Amino acid sequence: MDEKFAGAEAWVPSRGGLPKVEAGLADCRGCDLWENAEQVVPGDGPAKARMMLVGEQPGDVEDKAGRVFVGPAGRVLDKALVAAGIDRDDLYVTNAVKHFRFERRGKRRIHKTPAVGHIVACGPWLTRELEIVKPALVVVLGAVAARALIGTGFKVTEHRGEPVELPDGTAAVATVHPSAVVRSDEYRRDFGLFVDDLRAAAALLS
Ligand code: URA
Ligand code: SF4
Repeated sequence: MDEKFAGAEAWVPSRGGLPKVEAGLADCRGCDLWENAEQVVPGDGPAKARMMLVGEQPGDVEDKAGRVFVGPAGRVLDKALVAAGIDRDDLYVTNAVKHFRFERRGKRRIHKTPAVGHIVACGPWLTRELEIVKPALVVVLGAVAARALIGTGFKVTEHRGEPVELPDGTAAVATVHPSAVVRSDEYRRDFGLFVDDLRAAAALLS
């Protein structure tokens, strides 16, 4: 049985911009992930961004820093954005789940994929971010973001780089998560494919 949680609804401000979202996030108890995490990791970037990137959840480094995509996956993402000619400063970057889920192994904290219950519980934050930023295009990074934004049954590996529509009509492109590139046995190939998808996304905006 998957866990069920009350969800973030009660903490999501219905008015105000990204600063209000950030303030509300700090108090969120919509699921159980706040308990063991160091802190919540809010989205980052201009409210007027035309492109919004959605990852999975903060990693170990992000949990300690309180900032999105600043660890190993973030470094690959940054390199790929440069290669694709996209300026990260122009993007709004966030995650489907705002607290780090992990398992302790000795001193290490090992990433654990969020359950569907966590993705659903945290969904109201993502919905609010979409309402505020109103991006012209959303880049969906990996299966968890796809589950959050597109729904069940969508296979990122089958549809990567293709234009898709979110249920609210927003244009989107899905690709793999940069962590998959970090871990790849064929890094050069998979980095190149990731850059191709980001380029395809950027082309839809121009
Ligand atoms: N992976 C993510 O999905 N998001 C981050 O912020 C860091 C790693
Ligand atoms: Fe709230 Fe999301 Fe954190 Fe769960 S993961 S406590 S829903 S912000």
